[in-house]
Amino acid sequence: MTIKLENPIFDKLGMKYPIVEGGMTWAGTGVLAAAVSEAGGLGFIGTGYWHGEDVRREVRRAKELTDKPFGVNVMLMSRHIREVFDVILEEGVKVVATGAGDPSPFLEELHAAGIVVMPVVPSTSLAKMMERKGVDAVIAEGMESGGHIGQMTTMALVPQVVDAVNIPVIAAGGIADGRGAAAALALGASGIQMGTRFLTAKESEIHENFKKKILKARDIDTIITGNISGSRARVLKNKMAKEYVKREVEELQKPAPDYETVEKLESGTLRAAVQQGDKDGGAFMAGQISGMINDEKPVAEILEDIWAQATDILGIPNTTK
Ligand SMILES: Cc1cc2nc3c(=O)[nH]c(=O)nc-3n(C[C@H](O)[C@H](O)[C@H](O)COP(=O)(O)O)c2cc1C
Repeated sequence: MTIKLENPIFDKLGMKYPIVEGGMTWAGTGVLAAAVSEAGGLGFIGTGYWHGEDVRREVRRAKELTDKPFGVNVMLMSRHIREVFDVILEEGVKVVATGAGDPSPFLEELHAAGIVVMPVVPSTSLAKMMERKGVDAVIAEGMESGGHIGQMTTMALVPQVVDAVNIPVIAAGGIADGRGAAAALALGASGIQMGTRFLTAKESEIHENFKKKILKARDIDTIITGNISGSRARVLKNKMAKEYVKREVEELQKPAPDYETVEKLESGTLRAAVQQGDKDGGAFMAGQISGMINDEKPVAEILEDIWAQATDILGIPNTTK
C-alpha cells in the first residue's frame, strides 16, 4: 500500500505539514492558533459558548501574528452561534470546524464566502451524513482525546470513516509524535489533528499548573466524566473529576437520578483550569497521550519533529526540508 498524502484542502490553504491544532475552548487561543499556522500547520481558535465579540478578539490577536490561514472551531449548540458565524464571515476566517451538531444550515453561506468546513465526527454514520450535506472534510476523533469524546477509539474509527466517505479524513485522538501520525496516515487519514500535544507548547497560554499536570501525567491519569449523565469528557484526574464520577454513580442508584445537579459541578471548570490553574476545582481536559508528553517546546519544533519522524517511518520524502 502506498500512503496517500493528497489533501486538496491543505493544498488550498498552503500548509507545509498535514497537521492541525484541534480547537480547544479557552486553551486554543489566537496566539497558539497563529503559532501553529505560522509554522506551517493549521491552527484553530476554540470558542465554546463564547459571544461573537470574544471570538473577534481572538481572531484579531491571531491576525496580528500571522498572515497564514487559521480556523475557528464552533460549538453548534451555543446560543450565540449566529453572532459567532457573523464574526467569522466579517473577519474573513478561512476554515471552520464544527462540533456538537449539524452545520448544514450554515453551509451555503460559509461556502459562498469560500470557507472550508470540517465537522468533528465520532462515528461512520455521522461522517456519511456530513458528506451528503456537502462538508469539505471530516475530523474523525477517537475517545483517547482530551475534551468531549464519543465511544470509538481512533484506531477503530479512522479506517472505518476512511472507507465510508470520499472526502479527506483527518485523524484525531491520541496522536503526539511521528509514530502516531504515521499510524493515522497508514489507516488512510490524509492529515492529523492534535490537541493535548499543543497544550504544552511554548506558545500555549494555559496556566503553568495545567502544563505541569500534563508533563507529570502517566498513561492512566485521565478519567471520563459524564459517562453516566451523558456529556462525556476526558480530563486529568483531580478532586473535581473524582467527585463528579462518584456523584454520577450515586445518582444512578436513586429512583429519580438528578444528573443536572451533577453536571453543574463541571460548569466553568475548564476556564478555571486554563486561566487560574485551579488544581482541585478545574477540569484539566487532556488526552490519554498526556503520559508521553514530557517537554515544553515551540510549536515549530513540534511540527518539524513529528513530520520528520512520520516521513522516516513511512519511507516517504520529507519535502518540508
Ligand atoms: C483542553 C481541550 C479543550 C478542547 N475543546 C474542544 C472544543 O471546544 N471543540 C472541539 O471540537 N474539540 C475540543 N477539544 C478536542 C481537540 O480539538 C482535539 O480533537 C483533541 O484534543 C485531539 O485529541 P488529543 O488530545 O489526544 O490530541 C478539546 C481538547 C482539549 C484537550
